[in-house]
Amino acid sequence: MARILVGVSGGIAAYKACELVRLFVKAGHEVVPVLTPAAEGFISYQTLNALARRSGGAGPYPHLEHADLFVIAPATANTLAKLAGGIADNLVTESALAHSGPLVLAPAMNARMWANPATQENMRVLRERGARTVGPEEGELGEGGSGVGRMSEPEAIFACCQELLAAFDSLAGTRILISAGGTREPLDSVRFLGNRSSGRMGVALAAEAARRGAEVTLVAANLSVPAPGGIELVEVASAAALADAVLGAEADVIVMSAAVADYTPAAPESGKRHKTDENWTLELEPTTDVLRELGRRRHKGQLLVGFAADEGDAGLERAREKLREKKVDLIVFNDISQPGIGFDADENAAVLISKAGEVVLSKAPKSKIAAGILDEIERLRR
Ligand code: CTP
Repeated sequence: MARILVGVSGGIAAYKACELVRLFVKAGHEVVPVLTPAAEGFISYQTLNALARRSGGAGPYPHLEHADLFVIAPATANTLAKLAGGIADNLVTESALAHSGPLVLAPAMNARMWANPATQENMRVLRERGARTVGPEEGELGEGGSGVGRMSEPEAIFACCQELLAAFDSLAGTRILISAGGTREPLDSVRFLGNRSSGRMGVALAAEAARRGAEVTLVAANLSVPAPGGIELVEVASAAALADAVLGAEADVIVMSAAVADYTPAAPESGKRHKTDENWTLELEPTTDVLRELGRRRHKGQLLVGFAADEGDAGLERAREKLREKKVDLIVFNDISQPGIGFDADENAAVLISKAGEVVLSKAPKSKIAAGILDEIERLRR
């Protein structure tokens, strides 16, 4: 049984929150309903508390006590904007700011409000911080007409919450090291050779692993997104520093999602190189292949996960080969020839390759892909 906060913001779909509360109660969970003032125009505390079988008697701040999961259904454009901005001006937004576990959002609004770049940007920010979203769906809208903006049905929201609760603490006691971002190889004191990795995938993995109760160390190379809370953060810049941090650590699971430079300038200059009319020829030397080294040194019971960013079917074949050749347990293949996924994108798609077979994760926000990868890691550890 879990303690679930059900937040309701002010939209016509608020009536569907009744059914959601009923499903949670039927599944044996404790439900604490919280409403925004606008939601109270659509539905009453009395109704939701009765469905939640709450007779009062709780402390003065039941919404600020620990909850295993917080779901906001419906989440209006206004509430999403407040959540993205960290505003706490009512019980729902206050609860969200105080809550540290999984957050599920079921947006509901007019189709044009949903399509607005401001709403889309807020959704991107919230997903990046680890929120799971359900819907909205395409269909008939409350104000008439149709479009994308209709809240998902309570059953779908309930299923998403149950999935997150099942994963709850499933990695307790497991030490996971995740490398993320892209390394920078110095050419001189101001220039470097880098790559386009933002670190989003690794950050999503770290957030999801922490949510599942793992002890997470994030070896972060030049992230362009903030690291999640509740983890140990080790910041590195170059491939050599990343190798030191990863190879010197103790972990049950190591996930190499960082884009580590394969080559580094052989003789970086210590000061700033000044311009001349001559060509500048660089000599690059190979770096340590950290994943391969981990495969060599692995201790019994340790699980190793590598990433392969490559193109098309030939790339998939090379990724399969990498599994054997680098002696790892799982390779996450991203097809970088597909538009809108992979490097520096909010979404990803992957093929998870292990000796046990292959699992295809179709295009989804990186938080969802992270959950799929960790499900597979848990399966392989069993
Ligand atoms: N990796 C590593 N150390 C390196 C380079 C890469 O640990 N110096 C890891 C990456 O973190 C990733 C995997 O190895 O998990 C990628 O393997 P790699 O052989 O570098 O493949 P790609 O760069 O995808 O492809 P290519 O073979 O073309 O280099």
